[in-house]
Amino acid sequence: MGVLSSLLKRRSQPLVGVDVSASAIKLVELSGDFDNPEVVAFAVEPVPEGAIVDRQINEPEALAAAIRRAVQRAHTKTRRVAMAVPGASVISKVIPMPASMNESDMEEQIAVEADQYIPYPISEVSLDFEVIGPSASDPDALDVLLAACRRDQVDNLTRVLELAELVPAVVDAEPFALENACTFLRGQMPNHGKDCTVAVADIGNTTMQINVLHNGDSIFSREHNIGGRMLTEEIARAYDMDIADAARAKKEGGLPEDFETTILQPFLDELAVQIDRSFQMFFSGGQVTHQIDQLLVAGGSAYLNGMAERFALRLQIPVERALPLSTMKMARQLKKTTLEQNECALLLALGLASRTFDAPR
Ligand SMILES: Nc1ncnc2c1ncn2[C@@H]1O[C@H](COP(=O)(O)OP(=O)(O)OP(=O)(O)O)[C@@H](O)[C@H]1O
Ligand SMILES: [Mg+2]
Repeated sequence: MGVLSSLLKRRSQPLVGVDVSASAIKLVELSGDFDNPEVVAFAVEPVPEGAIVDRQINEPEALAAAIRRAVQRAHTKTRRVAMAVPGASVISKVIPMPASMNESDMEEQIAVEADQYIPYPISEVSLDFEVIGPSASDPDALDVLLAACRRDQVDNLTRVLELAELVPAVVDAEPFALENACTFLRGQMPNHGKDCTVAVADIGNTTMQINVLHNGDSIFSREHNIGGRMLTEEIARAYDMDIADAARAKKEGGLPEDFETTILQPFLDELAVQIDRSFQMFFSGGQVTHQIDQLLVAGGSAYLNGMAERFALRLQIPVERALPLSTMKMARQLKKTTLEQNECALLLALGLASRTFDAPR
């Protein structure tokens, strides 16, 4: 159905997950299956400053060049890719459909009825749907997950990937891709995620994506406009440095002694406040549980010193850094140190790459 025909469906052909973010392109290719994944290719390639601003693609050529470099660096021959659009540009809703309908009748019916469910003009969105299963409230109905994405978001990213000579084959929404990636974190969760509620915060450069999972399924997601860039800017302002030097010092150290108490800790506390706000919103939504058993932190910013300890103190729950590669095999030719150094930042790309597995989780 439309450009987004792949949004919810799984594919079994080779596929590369490409996370196109403002700070870096992250590319991962997996083989095997969900239970025994193997990383066969990966790359992290910086994106030139200004190519993406406020999640909008400003310089398609420069971005495509960075993607091309990432593909070269990854040494992969696979050209089919899975990409993600921001969660905010996707609306999903569970709707009932008569159980007697086949898939093509359903497709027609959904196209006719979609404007009841979607708050945008239908001409501006791409639609997709997936049958979830029998409806709990009506034995003659099926629950169908309907997803709609603003077409311009898909088109802009598709164009850049095509400029980079790639074939956009799967369009995912970031929260869905992260939910898939969280399958790789089960080994870290209490009771492997069974009967427990785990929050995952992907803290990147400009955004923080929170997912709350129960029994491994995402039951809440929210995006916050905060990330490591804010800390970099604080460092640049406080110590009169340019942004590139501040970003480097943030990662490599060597900042004045007062950095931890006057800049880092207030930043971590602000993140904790925003995470807590998401939790309060989650609890107020009449969810199955009123307890979060664990928080896993991912994204490049999860490498900040003392983050887990500070969050544990502020939020009063166990906090760990997310380690999606800990149970994965890695192909022999890969640069393991670089891969491990970027592990936390690769979560979304891993979720996208996992769309290559068509076996149910
Ligand atoms: N070792 C490190 N220590 C501290 N911060 C780091 C480290 N490595 C990366 N970062 C920070 O992590 C951020 C990048 O993380 P990530 O790659 O997850 O973001 P992104 O996906 O590009 O951005 P977004 O998700 O916001 O679009 C940057 O702010 C970077 O400075
Ligand atoms: Mg990111």
